[in-house]
Amino acid sequence: MTALPANTQMSLQDFLAVRDFIYGRTGIFFNESKQYFLENRLNRRIQDLNLSSYREYLAHLQGLGGKDELTQLFNEITTNETSFWRNPPQIEAFQKNILHEAVALAKARGSSRLRIWSAACSSGEEPYTLAMICAEARDGLMRGMQAEIVATDISERVLALAREGVYGSYTLRNLTPAQVKGHFIQQGPDAFKVRPELQQMVSFRNFNLVDYPGYRMLGSFDVIFCRNVLIYFDEAVKIKVIKGFHESLQPKAFLLVGHSESIHSFNVGFELLHFSKAMGYRKR
Ligand SMILES: C[S@@+](CC[C@H](N)C(=O)[O-])C[C@H]1O[C@@H](n2cnc3c(N)ncnc32)[C@H](O)[C@@H]1O
Repeated sequence: MTALPANTQMSLQDFLAVRDFIYGRTGIFFNESKQYFLENRLNRRIQDLNLSSYREYLAHLQGLGGKDELTQLFNEITTNETSFWRNPPQIEAFQKNILHEAVALAKARGSSRLRIWSAACSSGEEPYTLAMICAEARDGLMRGMQAEIVATDISERVLALAREGVYGSYTLRNLTPAQVKGHFIQQGPDAFKVRPELQQMVSFRNFNLVDYPGYRMLGSFDVIFCRNVLIYFDEAVKIKVIKGFHESLQPKAFLLVGHSESIHSFNVGFELLHFSKAMGYRKR
C-alpha cells in the first residue's frame, strides 16, 4: 500500500462520500466550501493508517476497526472553540434570572435537585462556568438544593481535557480574579486546575446529539445549554435535536442556544424569552 502524499487532493466524489458519511453519523453538514478543511484533517488519518485513498478510509470506518476510527474521526472534524463565561450577557441571564425560576420550579415539584445539561460541552469551560454559578449561590438561592450538571460531547479528545480540568489563562479571560482564585488551584505559571468541589458537580460523558433514542437515558433537565453546535447542523437535524431537548425538559424549563442560533422559526413548543442583550427559550 502506498501512503498518500501530504498534498493529495480529495476529488469531489471523495468529498461527497466522506461528507455524507459524517453527516449520517454526527449531523454535521459540510458544504462544498469545507472540502479543503476535511481534506486537511483526514489526510492526517489516512497517512497514520497507511491507507492510500479516501475510499479505503471509508471502508475502514465501516469495517472491523471502524468504531475506534470513528472516535478519531470525531476528534478530527469537530470545532471545539469555547471559553469560560462565554457570551457574558447570556451567562448573566442564567445567573440572575433563569436560575431563580428554575430553582422555584424544581422546589414547586418537590425536588431538591437541579439538573442542568451542557450539550456539546467541548473541553468543559461551559459546564464548569455553570457549576461555578451554582456554587456561588450555595448559601443563598441554592440553599438546600443540589446542582447536578451533565456535560456531553462526541469528541473524546475534548472530554479528556474536560475531565482533567486544567486550563490556561486565555480561556479564563472572562472570569474575575476572585473567581479564578476561588474556583481554581494554580498548578503552574499558566495552569489552573478546577477545584474538586466544582469537579464533583459535573459529570462528563460521550453523547452524540443525533442519537435521538438516547436522550431519554439522560433523564429530565431543568435547564439545557446547547450553544454553538446547532450552526453545524442542517435544518432537518436541528429540528430533531430541538425536539429531543423539548422532550428532555421538565415542564416550563429552559433552553439556551448560541446567540446566532435562533430556533424560533421551527416553532417547536418553546416560548422566546428576552433578557438584557440575551435571549433564551422556555418550554411551553
Ligand atoms: C464550538 S463547541 C461549543 C462548546 C460550548 N457549548 C460553547 O458554546 O462554548 C461545539 C462542540 O460540539 C460538539 N459536537 C459536534 N457535533 C456533535 C454531536 N453530533 N453530538 C455532540 N456533540 C457534538 C463538538 O465536538 C464541539 O466540542
